[in-house]
Amino acid sequence: MKEKTWQYSAAWRSTRKIQQFLLLAWMSSLVVYNTEAAGTICPDECTCTMTFDLEEGHTTQVACQHGHMRIIPVDYMDRDVHVVIIAAPPDRPNFLTIGPIFTQPAPFVNLRELHIVNSNVPSIGQFSFWGLQNLRVLNLTHNNLTSVVADNFRGLINLTELHLDHNHIEQMSSETFRHLTSLKTLILANNQISTLVSRLFRMLAKLSILDLSDNPLTDLNPEVFKDIQHLRIFKCRRCLLRRINTQIYHLVPRLEELDLGENLFKYLTSDEFISLKRLKKLKLDGNQLSVIVDNMFGRNRELHVLTLSRNRLALLAPLALTNLTALTHLDISHNKIDRFHLQTFAPVVDSLKTINFSGNNLPLNEIAIVLQILPEIHGVGLANLSLQEIPQNFFTYNEHLVALDLSWNKLSRFPFKLLSKTKFLQRLDISHNKLQTLSEQDLQRLEAIAEVNLMKNNWHCDQCSASNMLLYMTTTVLNSTIRVLKCHSPLRLRGATFGSLSFEQLDPCPTTHEAQMSVIAGLMLLCVAVLSAVAAALCCTRRRAAQYYTNEEKRREHDHEHPEELLGHTELGSVATIHAPYQLVSKDS
Ligand SMILES: *[C@@H]1O[C@H](CO)[C@@H](O)[C@H](O)[C@H]1NC(C)=O
Ligand SMILES: *[C@@H]1O[C@H](CO)[C@@H](O)[C@H](O)[C@H]1NC(C)=O
Ligand SMILES: *[C@@H]1O[C@H](CO)[C@@H](O)[C@H](O)[C@H]1NC(C)=O
Ligand SMILES: *[C@@H]1O[C@H](CO)[C@@H](O)[C@H](O)[C@H]1NC(C)=O
Ligand SMILES: *[C@@H]1O[C@H](CO)[C@@H](O)[C@H](O)[C@H]1NC(C)=O
Ligand SMILES: *[C@@H]1O[C@H](CO)[C@@H](O)[C@H](O)[C@H]1NC(C)=O
Ligand SMILES: *[C@@H]1O[C@H](CO)[C@@H](O)[C@H](O)[C@H]1NC(C)=O
Repeated sequence: MKEKTWQYSAAWRSTRKIQQFLLLAWMSSLVVYNTEAAGTICPDECTCTMTFDLEEGHTTQVACQHGHMRIIPVDYMDRDVHVVIIAAPPDRPNFLTIGPIFTQPAPFVNLRELHIVNSNVPSIGQFSFWGLQNLRVLNLTHNNLTSVVADNFRGLINLTELHLDHNHIEQMSSETFRHLTSLKTLILANNQISTLVSRLFRMLAKLSILDLSDNPLTDLNPEVFKDIQHLRIFKCRRCLLRRINTQIYHLVPRLEELDLGENLFKYLTSDEFISLKRLKKLKLDGNQLSVIVDNMFGRNRELHVLTLSRNRLALLAPLALTNLTALTHLDISHNKIDRFHLQTFAPVVDSLKTINFSGNNLPLNEIAIVLQILPEIHGVGLANLSLQEIPQNFFTYNEHLVALDLSWNKLSRFPFKLLSKTKFLQRLDISHNKLQTLSEQDLQRLEAIAEVNLMKNNWHCDQCSASNMLLYMTTTVLNSTIRVLKCHSPLRLRGATFGSLSFEQLDPCPTTHEAQMSVIAGLMLLCVAVLSAVAAALCCTRRRAAQYYTNEEKRREHDHEHPEELLGHTELGSVATIHAPYQLVSKDS
């Protein structure tokens, strides 16, 4: 009984849900309308909209994005607006200054997001945002800020995201962000910051994401990390770093993502990342590392993604991947690796989903040996390996293959047999090779692959080589894939896209005449065969007619065993064996 009541109320609740949903759906179909229509004001050069969603309820937004603006038309904005976007197309920047325009005479109390972007803003005045206590996102990217000070941000007690990237900020003094006690995301990328002064991040105890990429830092002051011990994501790509004081890692033990790509690291010690037990993503691509030593990631058991591409690695030590039993993505492309210790990959055999071998000095057999112990692999990068051919059984042990990059090699023939075995392939990049043509079976295989890149091959555009491709272009999903390809030969058509070609424009096949002759010869042979079969049949007796049935049964058994052989035989075989007896039978009856 109790159960029943519960069911009823659950049913009642779910109808309520459905009603709510319908109401929402109805409202969201009306969501975007001009508030002028609703009786409120909107500046001429801007667009004012209202949206509705479950979390926030109604959100009103003013967006002024045409560019060439010299003043923000705050007087014509509704002071209750939730989101203000002042932006400009790249080639029509604004030229703006911001004083306390959003706070005087009365603050925009409901303002949750303020974006002033690509507007050449040279500085933020004092107390500019005072009173915007509901502001959560402040986006000032692509401006001309050269410095920021604590008073700029006074009053922003609820700010969670501050985006100051793509400015010219050089210096920030201690405690610059001390009023932003709710801040979780601080983006300072693409500035001119060369030093991090002590206590720079004081009061940012909640900071979880910090991006300092593209600043000429050369070194990171460990001191500043004392104030941001809850950091989860830290990025400092292209920061001119040669090394990192590992004290920093002790201070931020919750770090999950570390991006130190495109710096100047030459070596890492085996205990480099020992404190980062929660690390999930580590990017070290584009450095100058020459070796990954044994046990380097022994304590990073949760690591999922490891990017080591574009270094100078000649070697992954036999125990380089020890304990990485959760690793799913490994990128070792564009190094100088020429062989592997099979043992290296033992820890990751059950977890690894993608591996990128591209651009190394690896012979195919070294790669084959590794692939054969990685049955879970979904994506393989084999670009830039000077491959001329790939053995057809290369992926025998990788039946889950979904993505394959074969670009920038020297393949001159489409690897049909190889790919006919990778049943689940959904992405194939075979661009920048030397393919000249695709046969009908190649095209049929490609038709079943969702994303295909065939660009920059040596496509030969005459009636023999290109006609199948043109046919598939006009009739199949390969339309857009083939349309953009460019002819490589003959010279007269070099650079012409397939989309612009017509069959008549193409040179006839060089061997057309011979081919026609051989077709005629073939047909004549066929006629002879049929005629002789008929003749033979006419000579036969009833006894042979009876025998047919046993022969036919045998033939079927045979077919079943060798279906592909049948394909080669049908023309002549079926004519002779099937038609002849039927004629005979009908004659007799
Ligand atoms: C900042 O504003 C620009 C322009 O509206 C927008 O493209 C960008 O996504 C914004 N950034 C964030 C983090 O909201
Ligand atoms: C902003 O910086 C750019 C690039 O440094 C410069 O060309 C432009 O003149 C600056 N604009 C202002 C208003 O200072
Ligand atoms: C903003 O901060 C105040 C004071 O901390 C708090 O009471 C209020 O709920 C916050 N508002 C939002 C939208 O978080
Ligand atoms: C691998 O993980 C185990 C268990 O956490 C740990 O005892 C061992 O020291 C780790 N190995 C290395 C080389 O750090
Ligand atoms: C390597 O291959 C993986 C998966 O195939 C891909 O996601 C990644 O972008 C590639 N890396 C480079 C540097 O091309
Ligand atoms: C292959 O190498 C070329 C030339 O170095 C480079 O431009 C291209 O991005 C590389 N492609 C891949 C997929 O690695
Ligand atoms: C192929 O794409 C072109 C241009 O995108 C389009 O005009 C044409 O209708 C498409 N043809 C087929 C068969 O989808």
